[in-house]
Amino acid sequence: MESFLQGLPKAELHVHIEGTLEPEFMFELAARNGATTKHGTVAELRAAYKFTQLQDFLDIYHQGAAVLRTHQDFHDLTIAYLERAAADGVRHAEIFFDAQTHTDRGVAMGAVVEGLVEACNEAEERWGMSSELIMCFLRHLSQDQAMVALDQAMPFREHLLGFGLASSEVGHPPSKFVDVFARARAEEFRLVAHAGEEGPPSYIREALDLLGAERIDHGIRAMEDPDLVARLRDEAIPLTVCPLSNLKLGVVPEISAHPLLGMIDEGLVATINSDDPAYFGGYVAANYVAVQQGLGIERDTMVALAKTSIDSSFASASRKAALLAEIDLYVAGHESRPMG
Ligand code: ADE
Ligand code: ZN
Repeated sequence: MESFLQGLPKAELHVHIEGTLEPEFMFELAARNGATTKHGTVAELRAAYKFTQLQDFLDIYHQGAAVLRTHQDFHDLTIAYLERAAADGVRHAEIFFDAQTHTDRGVAMGAVVEGLVEACNEAEERWGMSSELIMCFLRHLSQDQAMVALDQAMPFREHLLGFGLASSEVGHPPSKFVDVFARARAEEFRLVAHAGEEGPPSYIREALDLLGAERIDHGIRAMEDPDLVARLRDEAIPLTVCPLSNLKLGVVPEISAHPLLGMIDEGLVATINSDDPAYFGGYVAANYVAVQQGLGIERDTMVALAKTSIDSSFASASRKAALLAEIDLYVAGHESRPMG
C-alpha cells in the first residue's frame, strides 16, 4: 500500500516552499552566504523541532528562512522540493511562498520569484510536472505591509497564480486583510487563505465572506460548527488538510484522532498535503500513508482523495482531465497485482 500511495498521481495544494528547507541544506546555505545559524549542528537543529503550537514552529521557521538570500538559493530550494514531490507522485503543485519574510531582510522580490519560477520550469521539462506560485501575506504583519508586498509583486504578476494568507492565526482574523484581498481580487488573482487551523470556525466564514477565498487551507476546525460544515459541503469549498502538520503542531493529539474521515463522511471536499514537510516529518506521500494507516482508510478512498486533489487545483480543465486519466491508468495498472 505504501508504494501504491507514493506512486499514485496527485496534486499538492498546500506546501510552503520555506517549509521544505531541510536542516542539511540550511547549513549549506548558511555557509554559502556567510550567514550564522542559531543552532550549531543538524542534530541540534532537529532536536529543536518540538512544537506544542503553531507559534513555536513559526519562530523556528522564520529563523531558518533567513539563510535564503539569492536567486540561486530560491532556485535550489525549489528544485529540491519538486524533485521530492515528483518522487511522491505529485503531477501538479501549487506552491506558497512568504515574500515578506525575505523582502524584509533586503532580498529583492525578483530574486525570490525568478528563482522559484526557474525551478518550476525545470520541473516541467524534467518530470512533466506542472506548478504554480501563490504568494502568502503574513498575517502577523499589518495590512499596510501586505499592500506594499502586493505592489512589489506586481512586476512579476505573470508568474503568480494568486495570493494566500499565512502565519500566526489566532488574533489575526481574515477581516484584518479585507482591502488587500479586494485589490488582489480586482486584479483577477486566485485567492486562498489559511483558516480554522488553530483559529475558530468564524475565521473560515470571514475568509469566504470577507476575502473571497476560493479554497481554505487547513479548515479542520470547521468540524466544530455544523452550519459551517453544511455550507462548505453545499458550496463545495476545497479544504487543504495537512495531517502530519496537525499532529506536529498539536492541533490533533494523535493521527488516529484526525478528523479527515469525518470530513469525508460529511461530504466535505478534503485534500491531503504536506504544509512544511522538512519540519513535520514527511512529504506528501508520507501524509497519505499516515492517514491511511492511522485511520484505516480503504484504498478506493485514497484514490478518491488523490482525484479530489486534482479537481480542487487551479489547473486548467484539460490539465485536470489529463491528470485524472493518469490516476485511472495507474489504478488499472495495479488492479491485478497484490497490494504493496
Ligand atoms: N506558514 C507555514 N506553515 C504554516 C502553517 N501551518 N500555518 C500558518 N502559517 C504557516
Ligand atoms: Zn500552511
